[in-house]
Amino acid sequence: MKSIAFVTQKGGSGKSTLCINLAIAAQEAGRSVCILEMDRQATISEWAEHRESEQPEVAQVGETQVEDVLRRLQKCHYDYVFIDTPGVDSKGTLAAIRAADLCMIPCRPTPADLRAFRPTLAAIYRLEKKFAFVLNQTPPRSYRVRDAAEGLAVLGILPDVNIVLRNDHQDAIGLGQGVTEFNPTGAAADEIRRLWSWMEKRAQADKAKPATAPKTRQTRTVTKHAQAA
Ligand SMILES: Nc1ncnc2c1ncn2[C@@H]1O[C@H](COP(=O)(O)OP(=O)(O)OP(=O)(O)O)[C@@H](O)[C@H]1O
Ligand SMILES: [Mg+2]
Repeated sequence: MKSIAFVTQKGGSGKSTLCINLAIAAQEAGRSVCILEMDRQATISEWAEHRESEQPEVAQVGETQVEDVLRRLQKCHYDYVFIDTPGVDSKGTLAAIRAADLCMIPCRPTPADLRAFRPTLAAIYRLEKKFAFVLNQTPPRSYRVRDAAEGLAVLGILPDVNIVLRNDHQDAIGLGQGVTEFNPTGAAADEIRRLWSWMEKRAQADKAKPATAPKTRQTRTVTKHAQAA
């Protein structure tokens, strides 16, 4: 069983949306998945209430419970546990990072998003966790996306697919679905499937380099990109 946490203190960057869509994509690829929701906003629990299927199972967990819950789940034969965290850096977010095999940091290509994940990233570096950024809610094509990707690539790994801002994401969630269920042949579904395929390889790669903080000069590079974006 591998656990994947969606983390960044920037609200609205897409943690819950990606967690839902990737959980459904993983299920469709034949994996057994459950979701632990650590955010009291309960976006995913509410989504599950609108859902016809009872899969994936969604459970609310408190910040002191996550490690214990994951330990117990080891006996339940899940392939993946996805963890959605709140948009604030809290003890709970730290516990999720500590417990995760892979941390995903969603980021919109905006200066505010590019600045806001830094405390989260510092915790990931400190705990030497495997992680990746994912650019979300991007325009289909823009120099902003290219510049943001270049800046992020200095700090860590980026998948070969960005998640474009598309109505399918908003409409699917309203109906208790993932985008791959809502519009299986749509571009949003295609991006999510490609992202899941990339993430699964990253989650399963045992010999991935641990996260190490870049040198100060490189950090300034991303600041430059963030300011220019
Ligand atoms: N790729 C996308 N295309 C269109 N809309 C999106 C996309 N990703 C997220 N959204 C929308 O952006 C809003 C915020 O997304 P979401 O709730 O997933 O963010 P979050 O990081 O979980 O926020 P919070 O920190 O408040 O929990 C939602 O209305 C969601 O439908
Ligand atoms: Mg959320």
